[in-house]
Amino acid sequence: MVKICCIGAGYVGGPTMAVISLKCPNIQVAVVDISTARINAWNSDTLPIYEPGLDEVVKKCRGKNLSFSTDVEKHVAESDIVFVSVNTPTKTQGLGAGKAADLTYWESAARMIADVAKSNKIVVEKSTVPVKTAEAIEKILTHNSKGINFSILSNPEFLAEGTAISDLLNPDRVLIGGRETPEGKKAIEALRDVYAHWVPVDRILCTNLWSAELSKLAANAFLAQRISSVNAMSALCEATGADVSQVAHAVGKDTRIGPKFLNASVGFGGSCFQKDILNLVYICECNGLPEVATYWKQVIKVNDYQKTRFVNRIVSSMFNTVSGKKIAVLGFAFKKDTGDTRETPAIDVCKGLIGDKAKLSIYDPQVNQDQIQRDLSMKKFDWDHPVHLQPMSPTSVKDVSVVWDAYTATKDAHGICILTEWDEFKNLDYQKIFNDMQKPAFVFDGRNVVDAEKLRKIGFIVYSIGKPLDDWLKDMPAVA
Ligand code: NAD
Ligand code: UGA
Repeated sequence: MVKICCIGAGYVGGPTMAVISLKCPNIQVAVVDISTARINAWNSDTLPIYEPGLDEVVKKCRGKNLSFSTDVEKHVAESDIVFVSVNTPTKTQGLGAGKAADLTYWESAARMIADVAKSNKIVVEKSTVPVKTAEAIEKILTHNSKGINFSILSNPEFLAEGTAISDLLNPDRVLIGGRETPEGKKAIEALRDVYAHWVPVDRILCTNLWSAELSKLAANAFLAQRISSVNAMSALCEATGADVSQVAHAVGKDTRIGPKFLNASVGFGGSCFQKDILNLVYICECNGLPEVATYWKQVIKVNDYQKTRFVNRIVSSMFNTVSGKKIAVLGFAFKKDTGDTRETPAIDVCKGLIGDKAKLSIYDPQVNQDQIQRDLSMKKFDWDHPVHLQPMSPTSVKDVSVVWDAYTATKDAHGICILTEWDEFKNLDYQKIFNDMQKPAFVFDGRNVVDAEKLRKIGFIVYSIGKPLDDWLKDMPAVA
């Protein structure tokens, strides 16, 4: 029986391996991690991540051909294929700080594989890594190999959170990069056989190592660039009276452009877009391509601009100060259907409002108080390190309360900001909310989820990203 081990039981390692075990009953899959808490959660009824459909898959396979363990070395030693799906955060110190990928966790995993291996192995890069990482990993493995053969493959993951299980069950493509040697080709075949259990072969793309590594960074950069493009348009729409949803619809009808990923928002978040683009920028700089680096850097700059613009809209609309005012924040996760808050735009928006001395009352159906306090007090990029390496007890941020429903959050508030597009925010009883708020009552919709006209009829002053402005907002600049 083929044995697979995955190092890193996170958002990628857990769901990916669960689906492999579901679709390949003849393969034994072990997911290992240094975090005991995470592994305990994977073995419990409350999984460590919220992802629609994940519970069912894990319950079906756990105890059969899927296991979760902290015994990293044992499972690595026993396996034929080792996936490495550890974090690859942005470096915070030293050469490339603030841009380059920190490969500490990857390197330590590679050294451990070399240490414990007693038989030939295929080592698969599942984490997103800088192009040419496989070369470095290969060196670590071969210099420590004791005669064992390691074949390195790049098999980047394209799942999105919130839809991870359906993305994994029905991927647009699976990408496998390998060396163009006989051993490299054999390794590609072995991994292709795993995916071929459920993915049509014409969707399994095989390339050289560097193309696979770079395609992952390129795909995230292209996706984020679409969002920054539509968000840049949203600012122009507000200035001209155009409606960004209508513009996006008209633009997206062109089959060469397509309709997806054109929703204007308060800004993109998530653990990867910013990290991967910064990494791309750094690689371009290192390769003597400053113009290319500047081009991609602009995607991040527009994203930061969009978040600042949103905060400025709130403050300028509310008589140029939110000091002492209660602002209800609806949604904190970086998108709906996930409890993940990594790089969520809510962090920057909340910090901006706190900077102007607002009192925040935050509600998100999947994010708890501890996480929100941690996010608001943590330094940039600290979040992407394993929990045991993060600051121990973050000081709780004053003037922030976290509540468990939207009505409590909005009671007596002066304004509401919607920062995540949770479906429940569409159908709240806005008349009741209006009755219980201070007047004038404001709604700042950072995700275009509410029916602005309906809310205006109730009496709200509404700001929707990229939509024709309320008279109230017209003469109040969003850019300082
Ligand atoms: P994560 O932080 O959720 O999980 C990583 C896990 O690796 C952690 O549980 C950590 O404890 C563990 N780990 C770190 N070093 C280890 C070691 N030496 N031995 C054993 N375990 C170790 O991260 P994630 O979101 O799953 O992302 C992992 C990689 O996949 C990143 O490179 C990311 O860019 C990429 N990726 C993420 C997504 C996503 O949606 N989150 C999608 C595609 C690709
Ligand atoms: C993204 C990619 O979609 C995945 O293909 C990739 O594997 C993953 O990053 C990764 O490498 O980590 P994810 O970040 O989970 O997935 O979620 P997305 O659906 O891409 O959303 C990212 C952010 O963009 C969210 O904050 C979302 O609200 C925002 N977004 C998305 C918009 O503002 N507008 C859109 O039209 C789409």
